Amino acid sequence: MAYYRTPHDVTTLPAWQALTDHRKAMQNFSMRDAFNEDPKRFDEFTLSSSGLFLDYSKNLITSETRQLLVNLANEVGLKDAIKAQYDGELVNASEGRPALHTALRRPVGDKLQVNGVNVMPEVHKVLNQMTDLVGRIHDGLWRGYTEKPITDIVNIGIGGSFLGPELVSEALLSYAQKGVRCHYLANIDGTELHELTSKLRAETTLFIVSSKTFTTLETLKNATAARAWYLAQGGSEAELHRHFIAVSSNNAAAVAFGIREENIFPMWDWVGGRYSLWSAIGLPIALAIGMSNFKELLSGAYTMDQHFQNASFEQNMPVLLGLLGVWYGNFWGAQSHAILPYDHYLRNITKHLQQLDMESNGKSVRQDGVPVNIDTGPVIWGGVGANGQHAYHQLLHQGTLLIPADFIVPIVSFNPVSDHHQWLYANCLSQSQALMQGKTRAEAEAELRAKGMPEEEVQRVAPHKVIPGNRPSNTIVVERISPRRLGALVAMYEHKVFVQSVVWGTNAFDQWGVELGKELGKGVYSRLVGTEESVAEDASTQGLINYFRGRHRG
Ligand code: F6P
Repeated sequence: MAYYRTPHDVTTLPAWQALTDHRKAMQNFSMRDAFNEDPKRFDEFTLSSSGLFLDYSKNLITSETRQLLVNLANEVGLKDAIKAQYDGELVNASEGRPALHTALRRPVGDKLQVNGVNVMPEVHKVLNQMTDLVGRIHDGLWRGYTEKPITDIVNIGIGGSFLGPELVSEALLSYAQKGVRCHYLANIDGTELHELTSKLRAETTLFIVSSKTFTTLETLKNATAARAWYLAQGGSEAELHRHFIAVSSNNAAAVAFGIREENIFPMWDWVGGRYSLWSAIGLPIALAIGMSNFKELLSGAYTMDQHFQNASFEQNMPVLLGLLGVWYGNFWGAQSHAILPYDHYLRNITKHLQQLDMESNGKSVRQDGVPVNIDTGPVIWGGVGANGQHAYHQLLHQGTLLIPADFIVPIVSFNPVSDHHQWLYANCLSQSQALMQGKTRAEAEAELRAKGMPEEEVQRVAPHKVIPGNRPSNTIVVERISPRRLGALVAMYEHKVFVQSVVWGTNAFDQWGVELGKELGKGVYSRLVGTEESVAEDASTQGLINYFRGRHRG
């Protein structure tokens, strides 16, 4: 029987019980003391893989904690779960689908049977199709309706059909191919379309309608508006195929929209939206950085896939990160997790990981439909350092909440300016150091006295200067962001999310919660525009509808 059909109440497992006891024993654990007492702590809690270096020594852990967490991973059957996911078992039970984003990264010649069909030739066929398109556009052979080469690509898509491609194409700007600019149109807010099209010329713009389902409201509305804009700029229906292509698993809907069959890049229902940047959904990435760099991205992810599958759990980056999240969420009451990239090029990674993690692990029933009896996915938030230091880091340092954080930092800058990168790196390290060591009352007092402050003042001010410390963080260091290392980094987080879902027994690959808002949206829209006579079920929604209608009546 497949592992996902075997419901487990994780809280009854021996390792969970042992962790509960261990948590009590760790109540007075001090990271500061642990570093002072053990000069090898850094060596003990660091590892490298796939071009990434992970320092997880600034955590509320001992080697015993790690052992107990690894025991938990073993007791929930993580090894089998990883194999099941890689082998194409129906790990997405509520939709009866496999989750095979790892197949998209596998090399030519590999075999993988899904429903009796080897899907690998199809995966590589699409990569070849992408290579052909990218080559034609980069070589100026794909021409617009006035026979000019394409200069601008607009990806119309939302959620997973936007966030991953945006993250990667912008993170790898240093690898960008000259001559083609990539833009993203996601929101249904007309302002986004207006601002974007005002910078573009229809004759040299190619739109990629990127939607796995080809039913997503925002994407279809934007695609329709983009087509109207293209026609208003002088394009014709007959030349539409030069300016609109699609990536979708819904061929019929894309054709009905007006896209030529040969310009539709396939997607498969065994790839989830938030895991799809490795598929043809990554076309804007490939157009931005070229196909060989795109393949490097895939091979970086593949290296991480191998590490995840083969490394012992004690030496396994995604496993350790996932288990640390469980440790804080389920045993220390942490409800959120900060992602803090110290790299302008990685500024969008928080948004991507937000969807990846929160859409995957924002679940409250297990795979077998039984409600969970523990907390699951945390709120993922954060943003680029050093900016956050002058905004929300205050709460990280002195707020009442425990918020574990991941710092991500390169050691080499693509754009060295004086000693800026040294300062950026120093800022990153000093933040995790401050979170860990804090400042005691005695230190705060001594500091104030050293400034000559009268004792009465010292006592008044010192409590405000105390920093609790003992706040956990991971630091992920890369030499500098390259397609390979970025592939590994993103894949690492995908696997981390999966590890946690296996511990909780939840499905990381469905997203039914998103559907309710979509369904209700249709009713609200009909009431707003007056085609629906009945009133909304609640007075608040109806009141807000009336407010809108009142303004738009006259
Ligand atoms: O509404 C959420 C969602 O279903 C995401 O899971 C998905 O990434 C996004 O919408 C876009 O979906 P599609 O690619 O089908 O337009």
